[in-house]
Amino acid sequence: MGSGSKAFDADIDDSLPRGLRSIEALHDPFAWYHKNRRASSVQYDDHRGVYDVFSYKQVKEGLQNSEQLIRPPLAGDQTNNALSYFDTAMIWSDGSEHKGVKGELFRYFSPRMLKGIEESIVSITEAQLDTALDDGGEFDFVDEFAVPVPLRVIMSIVGIPQEDHQQLLEWLETFRSVMTSEDSAEGSLKGKHMTAAAEYFETLVDERSSSPQNDLISELAQETNLTNEEIGSNCFDFALAGQGTMSELLGNAIYILDEQDLVGNVDEYDFEILVEEVLRYRSPLQARARKTTEAVTLDGTTIPADETVILWIGAANRDPARFDEPDAFCPHRDPKHLAFGSGAHSCIGAPIARMEAPIILRTFFDTIRDFSLEQDALVPKPKASKLGFDRMPIQAEVSIE
Ligand code: HEM
Repeated sequence: MGSGSKAFDADIDDSLPRGLRSIEALHDPFAWYHKNRRASSVQYDDHRGVYDVFSYKQVKEGLQNSEQLIRPPLAGDQTNNALSYFDTAMIWSDGSEHKGVKGELFRYFSPRMLKGIEESIVSITEAQLDTALDDGGEFDFVDEFAVPVPLRVIMSIVGIPQEDHQQLLEWLETFRSVMTSEDSAEGSLKGKHMTAAAEYFETLVDERSSSPQNDLISELAQETNLTNEEIGSNCFDFALAGQGTMSELLGNAIYILDEQDLVGNVDEYDFEILVEEVLRYRSPLQARARKTTEAVTLDGTTIPADETVILWIGAANRDPARFDEPDAFCPHRDPKHLAFGSGAHSCIGAPIARMEAPIILRTFFDTIRDFSLEQDALVPKPKASKLGFDRMPIQAEVSIE
């Protein structure tokens, strides 16, 4: 990592694990994972007050044990707080409440229901590439492509008017900055920043209930038993989960193709399979937090009730006990990874991501024959729970056909 990343060190917060408190380690945490996993797959970190889990087997077991290991509630004990609006989304709930809401939402994410969006993904991607290439071949892949394309795709599925996309993006960024449950045992309690977003979704769902349009909010309002609050909070989460992770996936794919010198061979790859290996090799969500409802034993370590457990998906996906040569990127591997989670909370948007990412990458390479990355100017995300880039300047060569 070159000089471009140096100034970033100041933003690295001390609630991160000690071994990850540098931009280089956040960009490449895999040596830290291996070292810890070799020492013990489950460990207590007294600085952060959490139990870390590093092996594939135990991370999967933890993700699937949704009775003893639950999502930490978003709003904590505070009730007079805009976060309590978002708390009603399934990602923050558990048990029968979570099952009921997910059951209602599930069918809207089947590949059959999503068939119609393929064309709009291509046209959104082409339009954004045109804009990015407006000033020649040099642009920031993150800001001018990987953020806006998935944002437009998920917003058009959900039904957020285009003129509100920028405002939504700002709320998503605020939400991410106040939500710290994956970093330490401290909750995320700064809900006052989210009041306007909660009001926006309340109004939008009310409007679509009375005047439906051709979008997910209207369908959920017309066809399900979900309350308006559940529809609003879950649609906010679709934008939250569907934008950031997808942006990170696209940035990671471009970074890996460059790093592994694979750009010249992109025509040879099945993008659906290549994307699965990108998801394993550099998983956008590296860690998920849970709270124990009672004492739980994982790989011989007993974790008492009411403790925070960090399940390191990124470490599980590089576990040599599960994957041969885990640190090798194999475009044809088609791995059974944990990048979309497992069990009750597993990603409802995985069919969207699995359809969207190959289409976006294929459309990108239909226009762009080759590119180079300005290595010194890459800026990795300064978070341990997310693996991706905040800045990725790219010099692209456009296809002539
Ligand atoms: C590369 C893209 C994506 C990745 C890597 C990803 C990853 C994940 C993971 C790991 C979880 C499990 C969280 C946990 O167990 O705590 C999850 C849940 C979730 N994802 Fe995704 N996701 C992606 C794309 C999307 C998209 C496009 C959507 C849009 C709808 C979405 C919506 C959700 C929601 C709502 C949940 C919560 C499900 C629940 O709590 O039952 N994700 N995702």
